[in-house]
Amino acid sequence: MSFYNDVILPRLCHLSMRNKRLVPYRERVIGGAQGCILEIGVGSGMNLPFYGYGVHEILALDPAAQLIDMAREAPYRRELPVRFLAASAEEIPLEDQSVDTVVTTWTLCTIPKAGAALSEMRRVLRPSGRLLFVEHGLAPDESVRRWQNWLTPAWRRISGGCHLNRPIRAMIEAGGFRLDRLQTGYMPGPKPMTYMYEGSARPK
Ligand SMILES: C[S@@+](CC[C@H](N)C(=O)[O-])C[C@H]1O[C@@H](n2cnc3c(N)ncnc32)[C@H](O)[C@@H]1O
Repeated sequence: MSFYNDVILPRLCHLSMRNKRLVPYRERVIGGAQGCILEIGVGSGMNLPFYGYGVHEILALDPAAQLIDMAREAPYRRELPVRFLAASAEEIPLEDQSVDTVVTTWTLCTIPKAGAALSEMRRVLRPSGRLLFVEHGLAPDESVRRWQNWLTPAWRRISGGCHLNRPIRAMIEAGGFRLDRLQTGYMPGPKPMTYMYEGSARPK
């Protein structure tokens, strides 16, 4: 642990995730959430204001205590029960098949053992439940991929572990999910950082 990790990184995470261009993704993805929600890597709580009336409880998981403290202050509906879990997605402290929706927004790039985390998400999701996601990751264009592969080692060090080149679709499928919606494409901005995968998946 260091001043950079404990103080600077949580603030940088909050500032970068406040980007207004992310709002339409949040509206679409969080708009589909129903029932008891597990949000993976809640960060500073930028999704919390978007949960609608079909949601009756949110379990908001993040290993970073500083980000959980910020999320507690996010402007969400106060009648919505939100339970914060200081934990990692690789070991989710919940029973099997206990949640209706798992939400992950821009976290699979950062979670160190993302494959193990996806298996955990599948374990806690009810058989009829859905994984809702928006992530950035490996682009289809060879020239962009080259940049993503070249930048990732340095980028990881300054960004708290974020990889630019993770193959999100393949990872979700390997985690035991069947995709039922996937939309991909570049958001405005530097191409290595902005190839988005948005969609939903069900347990296989
Ligand atoms: C780029 S931020 C995204 C935050 C939030 N999901 C959003 O959309 O604003 C990545 C988040 O992943 C979290 N994270 C990192 N490692 C994790 C892990 N092992 N398990 C769960 N979350 C993790 C970080 O603490 C951070 O909150």
